[in-house]
Amino acid sequence: MNVLIITGGSNGIGKAIALKYTSEKYTVFSISRSKTNNVSYHQLIADLSNSTEAIKAINTVFSNLNLQTVSSITLLNNAGSLGEMNTVGNLESEKIQQTIQLNTTTPLVLANEFIHLTKELNCKKQIINISSGAATNPYSGWSIYCTSKAALDMTTKAIATEQSNLENGVKCIAIYPGVVDTNMQTKIRETSEREFKNVQRFKDLKNNNELYSPEFVANRIYQLDSSNGLENGDIIDIRKF
Ligand SMILES: NC(=O)c1ccc[n+]([C@@H]2O[C@H](COP(=O)([O-])OP(=O)(O)OC[C@H]3O[C@@H](n4cnc5c(N)ncnc54)[C@H](OP(=O)(O)O)[C@@H]3O)[C@@H](O)[C@H]2O)c1
Repeated sequence: MNVLIITGGSNGIGKAIALKYTSEKYTVFSISRSKTNNVSYHQLIADLSNSTEAIKAINTVFSNLNLQTVSSITLLNNAGSLGEMNTVGNLESEKIQQTIQLNTTTPLVLANEFIHLTKELNCKKQIINISSGAATNPYSGWSIYCTSKAALDMTTKAIATEQSNLENGVKCIAIYPGVVDTNMQTKIRETSEREFKNVQRFKDLKNNNELYSPEFVANRIYQLDSSNGLENGDIIDIRKF
């Protein structure tokens, strides 16, 4: 049995990935705050901006798995949010932590649980983190998001460094999905130029039909994964692949 545990499988890129892996006969578990209708994969409810809920959810997934029947297992940290878009000095200070928790702390918490829970498993084991080009581009108005994704990339590299020294280690990879037509992009286009200087670029991409579909991104990730094209510590930009 091939297993995918994905965060944020209720919508957008995560839903497309969950559907793709399900169609490829994976056993898929999604963790998010809401459930989506008419899908056949397992859905667990948790607010991933809360570590206790995140830990409980991933342990529930493992308690439903017979590890002896698992031939590959992947944790795909996809759930994420832009958080408040505005320049530093104009943000609501109390809310900063919530986005960093969801985008950075939770993937690290889940990775910690995943590596621990799969320690005795001798099969293909991997963690894929959905990062963003914002990890390396300091967009004005996106300080929280850029910070959270830059840290996620370092989490990826640090885990890869640790695990590559082990005989039966976990592969850890980050993927930049490009600009994808989801609710996240709708939210970006609704921002004012005062809050987010580059908003026109994102409106132009939509008007010119230049956004990737979530399905395209899901297929690319599946292709890379199934062809074993993912190397430990890779940070892959789908636009350049
Ligand atoms: N779209 C893009 O252009 C783009 C570009 C680069 C990177 N990304 C990255 O791709 C990933 C997916 O983004 P998307 O565009 O698909 O966004 P989306 O359409 O807004 O979907 C976000 C997903 O995350 C879940 N989520 C959000 N907050 C959560 C919370 N507190 N607890 C649990 N689940 C939560 C949502 O589920 P619920 O609402 O049901 O909780 C939803 O399934 C993110 O990490 C994002 O940073 C996107």
